[in-house]
Parts: sequence; structure tokens; C-alpha cells
Amino acid sequence: MSDIIKQLEEKRDAARLGGGQRRIDAQHKKGKLTARERLEVLFDEESFEEWDMFVEHDSHDFGMDEQRVPGDGVVTGHGTINGRLVFAFSQDFTVFGGSLSAAHARKICKVMDQAMKVGAPVIGLNDSGGARIQEGVASLAGYADVFQRNVMASGVVPQISLIMGPCAGGAVYSPAMTDFIFMVKDSSYMFVTGPDVVKTVTHEEVTAEDLGGAITHTTKSGVADLAFENDIEALIELRRFMDFLPPSNREKAPELPTADPFDRPEPSLDTLVPENPNHPYDMGELVRKILDEGDFFEVAPTYAGNILTGFGRMEGQTVGIVANQPMVLAGCLDIDSARKAGRFVRFCDCFNIPILTFVDVPGFLPGTGQEYGGIIKHGAKLLFAYAEATVPKITVITRKAYGGAYDVMSSKHLRGDLNYAWPSAEIAVMGPKGAVEIIFRADLGDEEKIEKRTEEYREKFANPFVASSLGFIDDVIMPRNTRRRICRGLRMLRNKQLENPPKKHSNIPL
Ligand code: HXC
Repeated sequence: MSDIIKQLEEKRDAARLGGGQRRIDAQHKKGKLTARERLEVLFDEESFEEWDMFVEHDSHDFGMDEQRVPGDGVVTGHGTINGRLVFAFSQDFTVFGGSLSAAHARKICKVMDQAMKVGAPVIGLNDSGGARIQEGVASLAGYADVFQRNVMASGVVPQISLIMGPCAGGAVYSPAMTDFIFMVKDSSYMFVTGPDVVKTVTHEEVTAEDLGGAITHTTKSGVADLAFENDIEALIELRRFMDFLPPSNREKAPELPTADPFDRPEPSLDTLVPENPNHPYDMGELVRKILDEGDFFEVAPTYAGNILTGFGRMEGQTVGIVANQPMVLAGCLDIDSARKAGRFVRFCDCFNIPILTFVDVPGFLPGTGQEYGGIIKHGAKLLFAYAEATVPKITVITRKAYGGAYDVMSSKHLRGDLNYAWPSAEIAVMGPKGAVEIIFRADLGDEEKIEKRTEEYREKFANPFVASSLGFIDDVIMPRNTRRRICRGLRMLRNKQLENPPKKHSNIPL
């Protein structure tokens, strides 16, 4: 017995040491934590229960039978984050570069399967050289097994990827299928092929950082949602993020007690929208002023800034926010913003998170760049996502709601539950000037006439009354009362039931 216990301790020590002190030191030298240190920061103290610590790879080629490390390059298990159950895997770069063997993949699959059975989120801490080269196709099979589970778990339990080192080749596709991707600046990168292959094939010279670093993916490609300064900051923020999410599609997000009164008036909102309809203002200010304690966890803040997406709480309950941002591209919808917000709306709908939409949108961004890029199909993603969503949907039009973009932004016609407008709302097919130039083309050149027609049009449509007379707007509300009206709306909608017709799945325009 004591022999076994001694062996057990030795095995545990070997597993904890991963690829050895030299490689741990190298990891630290790069400013990175080890796989286990990361889990310590991520989970509540001493809550992490490790599984499969003694699993080893089963390959014999290329001298691999001489090289075995208990755990085989990935630490898996479950623990609690602020008291709530979460499963995780953390790849250990010190063991064969965190590369994925068949055994490594089986460990990841095991936690994913269990997470789905019990209904708890899965977090992947990725730091890996990709497929274990010595294992060949067995490793590719392992990846595919993980991919299949990513898809099965999608919409069942939240899946979050934190990229904390290399992530290359097909390996990027597992994170790509998870709900959110966070990256660490200067030490993580994601690409399908690295700089060397790029140079050979396209003759482009590019650094790993420029090709697939955190800044690239959170500003240019939109592949990742947030970039953090270092491992610690990323893990601490991930803990905060997890508090907004429900454990699965079977349960509600945790309710956090708040001292913020539901009916807190916010008089400063009465003057948020400038007199001049062409002047911008910060929609983020409105969002922060109505949420509990001003706490807004913005997702993808540096990509497609013309739309804001993120989480907050109202009366302690998680809400998803989608809001046009007049400070960027005048708040127009374009390809990037439609994709960003469409995916966000679908996440909220999967996980029963009510959606609050704040609208100030002059329309879709015109031009060949947008048309050739497929704005029709991409814009339709957001439209489709809103129309399909059955969660409570509350919309507030603060200023412009023009054209197709009015319809798209959670309008009454897409089953918006409560559609409010501020007195400053303008709901029309287009702005007064553009409208008059089309319908009174014959008068062009006669400035006085055009001015008169524009004024007529403005009077008719540059207000919320036509839309409210048709019942498309449920009420015109004072900006200062926005929080109270939304909180009451959410209370009313708490037991909302709405189902889409039975089908295998819809066919969203991809
Ligand atoms: C086995 C690997 C490995 C791999 C790294 N190592 N990648 N072992 N399989 N894929 C090992 C190295 O041999 C080394 O072992 C240790 O990990 C650290 O690697 P270094 O190269 O010394 O580290 P660094 O300089 O930081 O470079 C890291 C790296 C580089 C950029 C990740 O190692 C690299 O380019 N690796 C290969 C990446 C790759 O091409 N993977 C396959 C992608 S295709 P020692 O013993 O010296 O410490 C793919 C297909 C997936 O993944 C398909 C899914 C459908």
C-alpha cells in the first residue's frame, strides 16, 4: 500500500513538473504562466479537481515510447468560478509544445462530454503547437473529435477560448467554433498557416504578430473578441465575464444582487442627443447610464466600432446589449457590424439572455466596397438573427431609424416585445434631404421649393409620432426614464413564451 502511495506521489510530481523546470523557466521568460498556474488564477481557490493526470500518449514512432509525460500536455478537470461549476482544459506548452495527441484529445473530449451532461460551461486555455507531428493522422482524428463536440455543445453550454500561445493550422478551428475568443497581446497568435508558408506561397513578408496576433484579430479580422495585456489580466477578466453567462441553455444566468434602484432617473440623458441631427454622441454613455451600477462588459470593442455589443445587468439579471454607435461611421450598418452583432444576438438567444437594442442608424453603408463584399448577405445575418430570436427583446430608438436598418434593428415587425422611442426619434425610409431629392427631383435647382419640401418631410417623419400612430412604437418615453421603463418591461417579459416552428435547423445566410 505505502509503495502505491509513494508511486502515486511520484507520478503526481512528474505530472506537475510537465516538460521539466528548464521548459517551465522558458515559459516564464516569455511572460507566460504554465498550464497549472493559469488554472489556479482562473478558478476559485482550491476548487479545481483534475482528471486524467496519469494519461499518457500511446505512440511508439520517432522515439516517442522513450518520452512520456503523465498528463500528456493538457490539464483537464472542473472547478468553480465565483462559486459556479465550470469545466476547463489547459494546454501545457512545456510538454511536446502542448501539441495534440490522440490521448490529449480524448482528455479534452471527456470534459466536454461531461460538461454537456451536467450543463456547465467549458473554457479552453489554448497554448499548443498544433497536431502532434509524431502521431500523424491519429492527431488529426483527435482534432476532429474535438470539433464535433464543439458543434454539439454549441448552444447547449457556453464555450470560451482563451488563446495564450501559438494556435496554428486546423487547430484554430476549435476556438473558432466556440462562443467567444479572448487573446493575450504579444504572446498568442492564431493563423491557418504561419509566416513561413505565407512567404513561400504569396511572397508576402509578415510577422507572426501582424499575421495573427491579438491586435490583428481584435481590430482587423474580428476573429477574436478581446485582447489582454498578459495572462493574469486575461484570466481575471474571464472570471468577471463568466458571471454574466448562464451555465447552460437549461438555466438562467446568475442573478447578482444590486443596490441600484430599478427606477433610478438619469436626467442627463434628456440632453444626450445633440440638437443637430448630424452631430455624433456616445451611445456607450447611454448604455452605461442605464445598466446596473454602470457595469458594461463590452465584447469586441475594437472591431466594427459602429455597433456596440456586450453584457450588463438590469435588476441583477444579465442582458445583452446591441447599440448603434453614432461616433463611428455615423452608426451605419456595414458588413463587419452586421456579422458582429448577428453572432452576438444568436448567442443571447441560445442562452436565454434578453436583448436590449438601442437604435440610431442612418442606414446601410453604401458603396462598391460593401456591395462587392456581400453586404446583402452579411446584413441579412443580423436581420435573420433578430427575426429568429425568441428571447425578450426591448428596443429604444434614440434618434435615426432609417430604411431597412430600421426594420433590422429589432423592430416591432421582427417580434420586438417592447419598442420605445425617445422624443428625438426620426423613423423614416431615409433622411429628409435624400428623400426630397428623390421624390421632388423636378424641383431640384429651386432651393426655396426644396427647402420647403424638406421641411414638410421633416415635420412628417422626423419624429416618433407616425410610427407610434401605427402601433410600431409602443410608447414615446422620456430619456431620463429609460432604465425604469426597461426594468419594468423585463419584469413583464420574465415568463415570455415564444417558439419558432419545428424544423431541423434554419438556413441563416452564411
Ligand atoms: C510535436 C511539437 C510540436 C508539434 C512544437 N513541438 N510543436 N512537438 N508536435 N506540433 C515541440 C518542439 O519539438 C519542442 O520540443 C517544443 O515543442 C517547443 O517548441 P519550439 O519550437 O522549441 O518552441 P517555439 O520556438 O516557441 O515555437 C513554437 C511553435 C513551433 C511556433 C509552435 O514549435 C512550431 O512551429 N511548431 C510546429 C507547428 C505546426 O506546424 N503544427 C502543426 C500544424 S498543422 P522540445 O523537446 O525541444 O522542448 C495542425 C493540423 C491540425 O495542427 C489539423 C486539425 C484539422
